[in-house]
Amino acid sequence: MIQRANVEQMKSSELLRLARVLKLPILDRKIARESLVDKIMVEIEARNKREFIEMKLNSPAIKIENLIKRFGKKVAVWGLNLKVNPGEIVGLVGPNGAGKTTTLRILTGIIKPTSGSVEVDGYDMLDNPIPAKSAIGYIPEKPTCYPSLTVREYVTFMARIYEVPNEIALVRMRQFVDMFQLDEYLDSYIGTLSKGNLQRALLVGIFVRDPPYVLALDEPIYGLDPRGAWNLKAYLRQLRDEGSAILISTHILEVASDLCDRFVIMNEGSVVGRGTLEELLASQKEARSLEEVFLSLTGGIPE
Ligand SMILES: Nc1ncnc2c1ncn2[C@@H]1O[C@H](COP(=O)(O)OP(=O)(O)O)[C@@H](O)[C@H]1O
Ligand SMILES: [Mg+2]
Repeated sequence: MIQRANVEQMKSSELLRLARVLKLPILDRKIARESLVDKIMVEIEARNKREFIEMKLNSPAIKIENLIKRFGKKVAVWGLNLKVNPGEIVGLVGPNGAGKTTTLRILTGIIKPTSGSVEVDGYDMLDNPIPAKSAIGYIPEKPTCYPSLTVREYVTFMARIYEVPNEIALVRMRQFVDMFQLDEYLDSYIGTLSKGNLQRALLVGIFVRDPPYVLALDEPIYGLDPRGAWNLKAYLRQLRDEGSAILISTHILEVASDLCDRFVIMNEGSVVGRGTLEELLASQKEARSLEEVFLSLTGGIPE
């Protein structure tokens, strides 16, 4: 990036040429040198920011390549390729045992692949685990968490790990505690919460961090009541619009079709279909809904 000092050293003729290259309107022929330098620097910084954002928008936040995972003789994931760009919600759907949870656990660095690679925000999970892990928020399928912390302590702990300033953390904690109606449980121990409330507490814990995030959510709607599910879906759409990249595993097809921009359908470890709902419907002529696409790709539509 061009520094101010470089621009200040330029001759007047060079400055004017640079201003023309940057398409800066120069209305006053006798513009003061100092203010011309100011205008040029503002433009250079704006471009840098724009190029940075464009670069981010055009490079996948999640990149899974040729992923294979075996557990002994059992093949859980077979040759998976999957990308999620910033500004997208992708649904990883499939019946029980399809390999969804295994994929998300490898993506978040909890278990290692047999072969293949995963990248988060440009960082390889095996070569660069710390930046890769710090870029991703994860809700596991079976939420487990420090049982002897209260919800308030847990959320504060998450904010500190991710270096969120205290005042901002407090405002966000309030926002998400209200969103997920956790107020009466703020001072309850995590170990005493129901599955649904535990899931809400974990959600508050990842949302207290700075957006936009890369999110990997394993069946996130499963333990929520209709209001919690509604609020979560609305907030995920907002994050998506702000540039988050979100990968959601689910076997609840209503949730998937309602929320996701694209789908990757897995069955027994392999991808059996992918695309937008329109593309999937076009590829499966007899199917009239995501449910029927899903059924015909994963063993056939029952008679
Ligand atoms: N730790 C493990 N040890 C042995 N087999 C496993 C393990 N984890 C998952 N599997 C097997 O891998 C397959 C995929 O499981 P999983 O990723 O949990 O599927 P999904 O989340 O789509 O239901 C299943 O057959 C499951 O039994
Ligand atoms: Mg699972």
